[in-house]
Amino acid sequence: MLPPHNGHRWARTPGLLRLRAFEVADTEDFVRFGIDTGASLGGDRSVKDHWSFLAGFLRRPLTVGAVAPSSARLARAVIRRCHLRDAETVVELGAGTGAITEQILARIGPRTRFIALELDSGHAALLARRFPRVTVCNESAENLQAIIARLGCGPVDCVISGLPWASMGQRKQEKLMAEVLGVLKPTGQFCGFGYLHAKWYGSTQTFHRRLRETFPSMHISPVVWRNLPPAFAFTCPLSKSKSSVN
Ligand SMILES: C[S@@+](CC[C@H](N)C(=O)[O-])C[C@H]1O[C@@H](n2cnc3c(N)ncnc32)[C@H](O)[C@@H]1O
Repeated sequence: MLPPHNGHRWARTPGLLRLRAFEVADTEDFVRFGIDTGASLGGDRSVKDHWSFLAGFLRRPLTVGAVAPSSARLARAVIRRCHLRDAETVVELGAGTGAITEQILARIGPRTRFIALELDSGHAALLARRFPRVTVCNESAENLQAIIARLGCGPVDCVISGLPWASMGQRKQEKLMAEVLGVLKPTGQFCGFGYLHAKWYGSTQTFHRRLRETFPSMHISPVVWRNLPPAFAFTCPLSKSKSSVN
């Protein structure tokens, strides 16, 4: 028998029964189980995103780098310190199914130009349908400078990364960081997230060392436990003055 759907009774359901929530294809049940699955996109949409994400991960695990889209909590933590309201241009790398995109859209100003790059063609098509205000490019972030030049944008205020840095080799990390630095304004910010379990991987350590060497400061958020898997956000301003919370 499935656990009762009433919130109060659910809280008193024995631990073993709670596991049955995984048998229910309903976002609310995942949320009650204690994993915020990015339900801000809405029930049906969120469940579809999970399947689509998982399918992408099974096809290309190293490129997708996650089994589920970021939760709304993680997405908010990622952009919490970004100065989005006054930004002229904002870029998101590896937008996936739009978990962070949605939060960025809610915070940018009416004149902000928002460009999202996504390598997976299915996800890119979904993003373009779902967020008509966003300029979606189904291209690699490795071509970021060329893309920004082609679109005729000036330097970028904020680059928000959803890229799986932990599953990249050093060369790729280097190339991508050079692209990011090549488009950022001197007052720009670079932010993103990493998964807790990957914090001690060599590739993550290399990436964090690179961030510390490149940026004058780096803020790391508390762990967002309500994400699958638990994660933390980082924010790196290029100049010291741009590090306050919104
Ligand atoms: C960990 S997922 C994050 C997705 C989404 N931002 C989120 O938080 O739910 C990484 C995403 O980056 C995309 N990606 C990986 N390498 C990329 C690249 N070089 N250029 C653009 N997108 C890339 C993958 O296709 C995948 O959608």
